[in-house]
Amino acid sequence: MARKVVLSGMQPTGRLHLGNYEGALKNWVGLQDEYDMYCCIVDWHALTSDFDDTSGMKDNIFDMAVDYLASGLDGKKCAIFIQSQVKEHAELHLLFSMIIPIPWLERVPSYKEKSQSLGLDSYGFLGYPLLQSADILLYRADFVPVGKDQLPHIELTREVARKFHALYGDVFPEPQAKLTKFAEVPGTDGRKMSKSYENDICLADTPEETAKKISTMFTDPEKLRMGDPGHPERCPVYSLHKIYTTDGLDKIAETCRSGELGCVADKKHLIESINSALAPVRAKRAELESHPDVVWDVLSDGASRARLRAAETMEMVRSAMRLIYE
Ligand code: TRP
Repeated sequence: MARKVVLSGMQPTGRLHLGNYEGALKNWVGLQDEYDMYCCIVDWHALTSDFDDTSGMKDNIFDMAVDYLASGLDGKKCAIFIQSQVKEHAELHLLFSMIIPIPWLERVPSYKEKSQSLGLDSYGFLGYPLLQSADILLYRADFVPVGKDQLPHIELTREVARKFHALYGDVFPEPQAKLTKFAEVPGTDGRKMSKSYENDICLADTPEETAKKISTMFTDPEKLRMGDPGHPERCPVYSLHKIYTTDGLDKIAETCRSGELGCVADKKHLIESINSALAPVRAKRAELESHPDVVWDVLSDGASRARLRAAETMEMVRSAMRLIYE
């Protein structure tokens, strides 16, 4: 039996942080053995908000691809590619744009939020979730690994498939979101780790940069001095220990609560845990960075394989729509 297909997508925001790593990448790495997997770096989606400065796009794509490969995604098992190198994304998006009513797109929660907060009013921005639907349906994906915030986009994708089927007959499976459980990764200020909050620790950071960031981390606000009893469950340093410190977690919680363990020593321990967990990823990163051709080759090979699947789907779509003229 043919393997099920997984399509994942990420905007090329550049270097990935621990939140991306724990929340998405590690999960993708696990999926590549079981599924036919397509990992799409969605540069056209990035243009829906960052069209006015495209100077960083190429570097951002490169840095992200390096992080993917360093984290264990394997370009042979999984097609890692750039969206704009598979033109069929644009063709399918255009065809969908003919059949999808504008109010369907205006109703998507991210549209209202972001069009106001970021002042985005372009035609392409309204079409963001429809382009995402095209990304997914182009590979006839069965599953899409995403976070909760993306559920409305997956639901729209299913509605797009149904509308297409009602008009022209069945072509696509109705894709399902594949939500993963993972520890929420706090940033250095205790909020969710995010590049835009500038509270992130990147895979690409050096051990020294990591140490510097962690040493400025917020801790339990009630533990001001050495000797004060702490509350590990309220402390972002402890949340990171839970992810990265494999041994002696109970002892950390206990000695923090009793006041015996000071925050400085505790952070030092966390620095060691994170730096040793990331050492292999960082070593691979460094190696890839010194061989950029290898990385670009993976992306171009990924695009070739993605194009095969995409071309097959577009044949089915054009045929269903009676747009074949020879
Ligand atoms: N909207 C997704 C995000 O912000 C990115 C994305 C674009 C995507 N196309 C996709 C995710 C297709 C999954 C599948 O994270």
